[in-house]
Amino acid sequence: MDSIVVTGGTPLSGDIPIAGAKNACLTLMPATLLTDAPLTLTNAPRLSDIATMTTLLRSLGTEITSMQEGRVLTLSSHALDNHVADYDIVRKMRASILVLGPMLARDGHATVSLPGGCAIGARPVDLHLTALEALGAKLELRDGYVHATAPGGLRGGKVTFPLVSVGATENVLMAATLAKGTTVIENAAREPEIVDLARCLRRMGARIDGEATGTITVEGVDRLDGATHPVVADRIELGTYMLAPAICGGEVTCLGGDIGLIGAFCEKLDAAGIFVEQTDRGVHVARRNGRVRAMDVETRPFPGFPTDLQAQIMALLCTADGTSTLHETIFENRFMHAPELARMGARIEVHGGTATVRGVERLKGAPVMATDLRASVSLILAGLAAEGETLVNRVYHLDRGYEHVEQKLGAVGARIERVSGT
Ligand code: UD1
Repeated sequence: MDSIVVTGGTPLSGDIPIAGAKNACLTLMPATLLTDAPLTLTNAPRLSDIATMTTLLRSLGTEITSMQEGRVLTLSSHALDNHVADYDIVRKMRASILVLGPMLARDGHATVSLPGGCAIGARPVDLHLTALEALGAKLELRDGYVHATAPGGLRGGKVTFPLVSVGATENVLMAATLAKGTTVIENAAREPEIVDLARCLRRMGARIDGEATGTITVEGVDRLDGATHPVVADRIELGTYMLAPAICGGEVTCLGGDIGLIGAFCEKLDAAGIFVEQTDRGVHVARRNGRVRAMDVETRPFPGFPTDLQAQIMALLCTADGTSTLHETIFENRFMHAPELARMGARIEVHGGTATVRGVERLKGAPVMATDLRASVSLILAGLAAEGETLVNRVYHLDRGYEHVEQKLGAVGARIERVSGT
């Protein structure tokens, strides 16, 4: 298993390119199941989660060709010869559930393994299922699988989500494009990845309105066509790399970044005393002199502060001047990075969904364990600022969502290297 070694204390300078969004790509890829014509995605990120989705779609009968070293993916689903998403793939990646809606809408039946729990919480899929039922799906849970049928095809319906779910909104949005009649999705997620999915589906001929408003209306069509669509830039990768100079000093431009995708996060950086500016090339970030200011952060669905940047901003606040509070409102168990940061000298107390961080002058390098994707990168960020060497173990989590983190940070002057394990 590979590890990453970071030696802290070097200010950063230069450019970091921002890739296409993992979470957008993971929902755009299953959209291939809605059409027998080819769907080409450009600006795809090269990540192990994308490889897992490729394996899953191929297991259903989708042909996938990859060009420009994986940046361009063409997916063709002429005919599906398997309608079962197997547990062995689904358990590796929860986003696998996103094949359910499109497969059901296209062929009237689909069987998908239930994903099970994950490190950051129980993460049920009940909202995906009740939303598809509102479109006429008949569901049966048996042997750990959802067996879904819609013999006469799906029909439009009204879906009102009791809480905002990105994945459930994506699943039902895709299904509704081929349902007969009108679907209205209320309390829908508004994340940029949803907006990107709606744009792509419209290019394929879908009739969708209101995707950025929280109420999405879909007029079902008989068939969708192929399309070529560029994956939106990854706002979480952007926020993560913006934090690198914020934590250890220096100036970095995140190439291709758009602060419009992470307004709430940028407000927090501003409050901390970090300089952020949108330029023609991307987002320019510089750390001013002195310690950053402590603050309160609460995670919320978009346009609020993203839960996927909570671990990373905690790394920044560990050395803030004063006491900060982080409220995690999306997932119930998303502070596993806190005890690891404490190994580096951070002073953090966690009570339920609230973490209190008392800023210290300096962190100290230590061996630490990555527990999930965003937790892993928060430990790397903390290592950039720490005195001495930080060894981050279990970095396979990191490879799910960050392309060559050691190369991107190394190119702006960070002392970071990957150590191959056995
Ligand atoms: C997506 C993102 C993930 C991000 C999360 C919240 C992908 C591949 N992943 O995950 O990186 O952290 O949005 O922004 O895009 N819930 C239910 N029942 C359901 C579905 C969700 O109770 O059927 C709950 C979840 O447990 C969680 C909350 O709703 O507490 C939000 O989850 P959701 O938005 O669905 O997250 P994902 O789509 O799984």
